[in-house]
Amino acid sequence: MKIGIIGGTGGMGKGFALRWSQNNDVIIGSRDAVRAAESAVEYTNLAKEAFGEIKGTISGNDNLTVARNSDVLILAIPYENIDSVCSGILPEVKNSCVVVSPIVPMTKTDVGFECVSIKENKPFSYKLVLNHMKDKSKLVSAFHVISEKKLVNPTLELDYDIFVCGDDNESVQIVNGLINEIKGLRPINLGPIELSYLAEMSTPLLLNAMIKNKIKNPGIKII
Ligand SMILES: NC(=O)c1ccc[n+]([C@@H]2O[C@H](COP(=O)([O-])OP(=O)(O)OC[C@H]3O[C@@H](n4cnc5c(N)ncnc54)[C@H](OP(=O)(O)O)[C@@H]3O)[C@@H](O)[C@H]2O)c1
Repeated sequence: MKIGIIGGTGGMGKGFALRWSQNNDVIIGSRDAVRAAESAVEYTNLAKEAFGEIKGTISGNDNLTVARNSDVLILAIPYENIDSVCSGILPEVKNSCVVVSPIVPMTKTDVGFECVSIKENKPFSYKLVLNHMKDKSKLVSAFHVISEKKLVNPTLELDYDIFVCGDDNESVQIVNGLINEIKGLRPINLGPIELSYLAEMSTPLLLNAMIKNKIKNPGIKII
């Protein structure tokens, strides 16, 4: 499977690439194809160091080329840039492409981490992304509550749940499969994409709990 990561030069992109390159071909996307290629070389070396030989590959290209060539496309970009990035790339994806949004509408204020959609009455991430989707049923929302620091550290034992929202069962199953490929993560289905706001709000909740209570490596797990 070809997994494209838009904004793959950032922290989440690095974590996903390290994990999924064990079994898949990962393509790092960037506004700058050279930066993407450099990150791909760096991540390949890190993945081989961490896991020995990898079955997949990591390559890099500009965001549009990545979008056109991916079976699954991860939007690892900041909330503020959803419209500017997605308007150019999402109309160009393959009809079968599953688009995954881990995007959190979050800001840090005097009181702690807050959800900008509530604080500033702005749309949740999934609503902004949906505006640019050819086939809205192909959007799956996931990975809001796993931090890049955990994904990039192969020696850290993971034991966390990942909330998943989506309308198309086949697309959700594909994302569940990618979650299961990361040892210690478990997909937890929340329901249709309209409920994505619940997952998006859980990130500031988790971060405030972590900081106020000095909890190392917190995560969410339903027991
Ligand atoms: N970090 C976490 O632990 C974490 C956890 C859960 C969810 N998330 C969510 O995952 C998403 C990615 O997080 P991240 O920490 O990886 O983000 P990031 O490092 O801040 O940014 C990711 C990439 O987005 C691109 N980008 C930055 N500014 C841009 C702009 N103005 N226009 C277009 N592209 C721009 C950059 O790639 P190029 O410069 O190469 O184009 C950058 O490397 C965010 O929405 C975040 O809320 C993050």
